[in-house]
Amino acid sequence: MPTSIPTLSGESGLAVLRRMLRERSILAGLAAMHAHLGRIFQITLPNFRPVFLTGPETNRHILVTHRHDFLWRTESDPVTHLLRHGLLVEDAESHDALRRQIDPPLQRGHVQTQIETFWHRTGDLLTPWQDGETRDMLVEMRKIALVLLMDALFGVDILPDLDRLWNPILRAIAYISPGPWIILPHLPRPGYASALRTLDEYLYGLIRTRRASLPSPAALGGRGAGGEGDLLTHLVSDPTLTDDLIRDQFLTLLIAGHDTSTAQLSWALYLLGRHPDALAHATSEARTLPADRPPTPDDLRKLEYLDMVLKETLRLYPPIHVGNRRAAHDMEIAGCPVEKDTRVMMSIYLSHRDPAHWPDPDEFRPERFAREGGDNVPPFTYIPFGGGPRNCVGAAFSQIEGKVVLLRLLQSFDLELSPRPVHAHMGATLEPRPGVKMRVNRTLRLRGASAQGASDVKN
Ligand code: HEM
Repeated sequence: MPTSIPTLSGESGLAVLRRMLRERSILAGLAAMHAHLGRIFQITLPNFRPVFLTGPETNRHILVTHRHDFLWRTESDPVTHLLRHGLLVEDAESHDALRRQIDPPLQRGHVQTQIETFWHRTGDLLTPWQDGETRDMLVEMRKIALVLLMDALFGVDILPDLDRLWNPILRAIAYISPGPWIILPHLPRPGYASALRTLDEYLYGLIRTRRASLPSPAALGGRGAGGEGDLLTHLVSDPTLTDDLIRDQFLTLLIAGHDTSTAQLSWALYLLGRHPDALAHATSEARTLPADRPPTPDDLRKLEYLDMVLKETLRLYPPIHVGNRRAAHDMEIAGCPVEKDTRVMMSIYLSHRDPAHWPDPDEFRPERFAREGGDNVPPFTYIPFGGGPRNCVGAAFSQIEGKVVLLRLLQSFDLELSPRPVHAHMGATLEPRPGVKMRVNRTLRLRGASAQGASDVKN
């Protein structure tokens, strides 16, 4: 017999409210609900009654075994408005067909070439940093993530356009972030329409230019140019894809691919700054590699501690902290009835901090990811990149990117975190706000960076 989904009531409601106010954090409120109500609970606000699920069983249920019972797309959702028919917001056959088009060229990227692009472009952006100055790593990592993604995936240098695109990108991200519009969907969203116009002009312009640079179909003897070049060339060479559909995939990858890396890198730097022993360990490991040439994949494999730091960062602050779905029909989950169209939130954040699986779950302990002697958690307990057929298409890309950027940074600078409070802001990703200020003391003149300098955009 199904039991109803636990919700907050008198006593548990007060305890949760107290913790939320004390820690000034919705995430702390969710953690308190998890502690009081268990692995499945429902929030009951006007127009917003999501069911939250935690733990490996329900993660597997949503991501793999019952994935067809859940939909991503909701027409009224701001994410759907922004990304239109992007991979992220499509379901069923339409999703799977797009995935078949995007996945192979994305995964086929030559790893050494990618590493070299990451290494050179990071060098470009670090070159103007002055010895002893303080930089906000949230801003700097967004700049680096945008430049690296656009160059490595699409063969586009975004740097000359970054000043004028910076605010439109932030506006687009704010538009898809949680806010009062969740319960008041008709709230005006000033600035979004013009931001979208600017981004669309930029993306459609790049698509048209790339199309014009392709050899004509006649010259190719009807073979198409697909299979050659970067992802943008691949997409414009596919005769089944219109410019509108390419723009949707382009914007999806641009937003999903840089906002997550920004969060990963800035949280990693924050956590290292808060833990001087870990920072010293990661720095000395990075300095065992030569600094005058790009690393090889073998070099990167030697950075075992940095690898553990990145994994632990994604455990504590998973940039995508929930997998957001909609129930396709009435159903039962974990013995509870869930009505059609209910929002179902698979909480990656709560799964990653579940004391049932992680000793001292709130502690930063990279060693828990040691190959031997680390925490041994069941499959689907640690899911920073999701799982199953909708897992992250950029997982491999961002793991290499994270390592190369931190390697270059730690080889070139001694870092010191400015002491000011930082909290996890629930935007499109979990972000360290108001930012991660660090003093940077140069230890190495950069060689190998290309001649371009960096523009000086600020948040
Ligand atoms: C640290 C970096 C990243 C993290 C933590 C991350 C996390 C995730 C997660 C959790 C999902 C699954 C969401 C769900 O099931 O609802 C996902 C999907 C996705 N990610 Fe990432 N991601 C990262 C980097 C990237 C990059 C670099 C790209 C692009 C190159 C990217 C593109 C996508 C796309 C397009 C999807 C949707 C896949 C689909 O629905 O088939 N992500 N990501």
